[in-house]
Parts: sequence; C-alpha cells; structure tokens
Amino acid sequence: MTTNHLIINGDQTVSHIDRQIYGHFSEHLGRCIYEGIWVGEDSPIENTKGIRNDVVKALKEIKIPGLRWPGGCFADEYHWKDGIGPNENRKRMINTHWGGVVENNHFGTHEFMLLCELLECEPIICGNVGSGTVQEMSEWVEYMTFEGVSPMAELRAENGRENPWKLKYFGVGNENWGCGGNMRPEYYADLYRRFQTYVRNYGDNKIFKIACGPNVDDYRWTEVLMREAHQYMDGLSLHYYTLPSESWAEKGSATAFPENEWIKTLKKAQRMDELITRHSAIMDQYDPNKRVSLIVDEWGTWYDVEPGTNPGFLYQQNTIRDALVAALSFNIFHDHSDRVRMANIAQMINVLQAVILTEGEKILLTPTYHVFNMYKVHQDAELLQFNLESETFEEHGLSMKAVSATASRDAAGKINISLAHVNPAKSTKVTIDLRGLKQDKLNITATELTADVMDAHNTFDAPDQVVPTAYSNYTVNGTELTLTLSPMSVTALTIE
Ligand code: AHR
Repeated sequence: MTTNHLIINGDQTVSHIDRQIYGHFSEHLGRCIYEGIWVGEDSPIENTKGIRNDVVKALKEIKIPGLRWPGGCFADEYHWKDGIGPNENRKRMINTHWGGVVENNHFGTHEFMLLCELLECEPIICGNVGSGTVQEMSEWVEYMTFEGVSPMAELRAENGRENPWKLKYFGVGNENWGCGGNMRPEYYADLYRRFQTYVRNYGDNKIFKIACGPNVDDYRWTEVLMREAHQYMDGLSLHYYTLPSESWAEKGSATAFPENEWIKTLKKAQRMDELITRHSAIMDQYDPNKRVSLIVDEWGTWYDVEPGTNPGFLYQQNTIRDALVAALSFNIFHDHSDRVRMANIAQMINVLQAVILTEGEKILLTPTYHVFNMYKVHQDAELLQFNLESETFEEHGLSMKAVSATASRDAAGKINISLAHVNPAKSTKVTIDLRGLKQDKLNITATELTADVMDAHNTFDAPDQVVPTAYSNYTVNGTELTLTLSPMSVTALTIE
C-alpha cells in the first residue's frame, strides 16, 4: 500500500452535489461584461444580438449552471432602469467603483436574460440595498417576473419582451458590510427583512432569496444574520478570496511568483474548508435541518493586476496553480454539499480567476476552465462516502496534504473520481479501493491536467500550454487501482 490511500464506498451516498456549485459571476468590472461578453451587434466578432458566440460556445461546453450579475460592488450602485429601453436613451455614467470608465448601460436586464437563455443557465440577480430603494428592488422583480396587468409588465412589453422571464435566484445586496453600505450586521439584518418582503413570488415563479453573508471569518455577522433573519432567507452568502500574501496592496503576481508562494497560495485556498465548517456550525444552531444554504457567491484567486493594465480592471493571468486552487475548492464544496448549494467563481471572463480571457477577437481557455470541464461530471451527482489518507507536502515551513480527492455517482451509475496533487516537485502513488460497486469489470477513462513549471499558463499565442490529456498511468487489480499522479496535477477518472 502507498502512503496515499483512498477508500471509496460506491454504495454509500452522503449528499447531493448541487450543480450550482459550478456557478459563475459576471460584474460590470473591467472587461468582463464589455468585450468579454458583450461586443454589440455591429461588432466584427460573431455575435448573437451583441453577445459573443465564441464565449457562449465555450461556456456551454462546461455546462455553466448559473450566472450572478450585475455585481459585486457594482450591484449596490446599479439602478436597473438605467439599463432598459433603446440604447440611445440609456444613461452614460462613470463606473466609479471599477476603473473610472464610461458605463453606457448597453448591457442591461434584457441582455443579461438573453445571455442566460443562450447559456441555458439560471440567472442569479443581485439587487441594490446599499444605494437603492425598496421600491426599486421590488419593481425590478415585478419587471422580470410579473405576468398580467402591471406597470412594470407593461414597461417590459414596451421594451420588446411580452412574457416574463423565470427568475429563481435573487441576492438582497452584496457585501453590505463593506462596499454595499458599510453596515453593521444588526442594521443589515433589519434592512434585509424589510427589502426581502417586497421580493415577491408572482404566478408560479418562486424566488430563492440570498442574504448578504459574512466576509471571510466574520462569524459575528453570520451569528447576527441567522439569529435575526434566518426564517426570511433561503441562502446566506460567503465571500472568500485566495491571496498569496497577507497584503491587499501587494498581493503577489499571477505568473512571476517566487517558489514559496506556491504552497502559501494553495494552503490559503484550503482555508475555505475551515471557513465553511465554522460558518456552518453557527448556521446549524439556528437551522439544524439545513434549510438555509450557504452560498459561496465569490471565491477564487486575487493577484496583482497584469503589468500595464488598469488597476481597476482586476485583469490577471491564470496558471496551473489556479487549476489546483479550483480543484481543491471543488473538493471542499463537495465535502460540504449538505450545506453549500451554490458557489460562483470570481469572475467568469477577464477578471480575477477567470475561465476565459479575451483580447479583441482572440479568446483563450485558462487552466481553471479545464478544471471546470473535468469536474462537470459531478454536477447534480451524489457524493460518495470516502476516506483519504494522504502524505504531507512540506515546503518553506508550511505543510498541507499532498493529495485531495472527491468521488460521486451520477444518475447513470457512473462513478467519477477527481484528485488534486499539489506537490510540484515529484509524482506520487495513490491506491484506490473501490468497494460496494455494481460493476464487476471496471471500464475506466481518465484525463489529467498538469504542467512542467509552476507558472505554466496559456497565452493568446500559445493557447494550449496547459490542457487536459488522456491519462493511463495506473494499474488495476480487481477493484483496486494504483495511480501515479504527476507533480502539480488534477486527475479525473470515470468508472463505468
Ligand atoms: O470580485 C470583485 C469584487 O470583490 C466584488 O465586486 C466585490 O463583491 C468583492 O469585494
């Protein structure tokens, strides 16, 4: 037996892995919406009513289940009526929060809903509590979902959309402890109770209401929100970003990073486990049946911006290190899938830990994109009971488990196992004992994502530096597998 040993009980399920754990976030920030998604109908870039076709195609491939919009900090300054009606009448303004650029409001509610229709994903709208009114929020929901005679339904029809959209997820404010109004939890809890009252269910449209949750380890925020308002919410959000350093002023580079920032970053990504555990424990006190979901609606790496780019645009490259952050995060979300029922990586395109980068008409898929693709098999699957013993990876006075894993069974009975190996210097062996299987002969297909150097990444000139390849570095003995995992790798196996 190797020092890394994984026992999977294929006949014992633990919880359902909600597909919304694989969700995304798109904000009016930098080149996420404009350029990344929206190029306008007159663009030479192929588009559907202004939305880039290449981006839609790539996102459909990874089956994105949900998309959060319009922010972020932008949400609490966004007035939705600025973004409807003929383009020439839409307000032009400065995006004061992000980069000081002109926001022409050409991408608004109709465009966002069309994007979600093209992607076949759930829209997740974040309303404005920080600088908006109850009436404004209430009317937005009416505009989007009311069928029948009403001022907002009529306005919607005047703007070309007769039928209401379906809207499931609605966030009542964003980071109201910070950019969303610098509120105390007691004050926000009361505001949340008030605002959510008017986020109404019209017809058969039933809204899942998400309250603004804590920043990182602000356990008092969770305590107060759950105590004062748990009965009025379906979800409570959590935001946690992975920075290599302790300083927001000098976070560290996405690519040109010193060796010690490898383990520092991955260990900090692993902290998500502790945060979810501790926040969930508080939620359990008020909601032992786990009716209220923990929604990690902003997560991912946050580095210094690429040299020469607008500091307010948060544009960063994405390496094999980010791929491992993504795999570790998914494994953690799965472990907590009895409480965590949605997560949204920040952000989808051209901002922070993006899955896609664009430059004019060019597009590239990042290592993080490939992890989303490899892990999509877990969407709406059943988490299997497993036990993992892993060797320790030690470097620069820090240590963490070298191997992290997850396993699930899908509706067709296939078993999917995903492993992340964080040691960049050596390969390692893992034995997997598969127990309680229906299959008597294992039919295995496998892929891996790895690289030769810690900062390996894809560029517009070399877009295939880090891509998944077929994996066959394993032996099978009955229902025991022995895998040799490459250094710094993500490996995915499907067993039929
Ligand atoms: O994702 C960038 C910003 O990070 C979001 O606007 C905000 O919610 C968070 O602080």
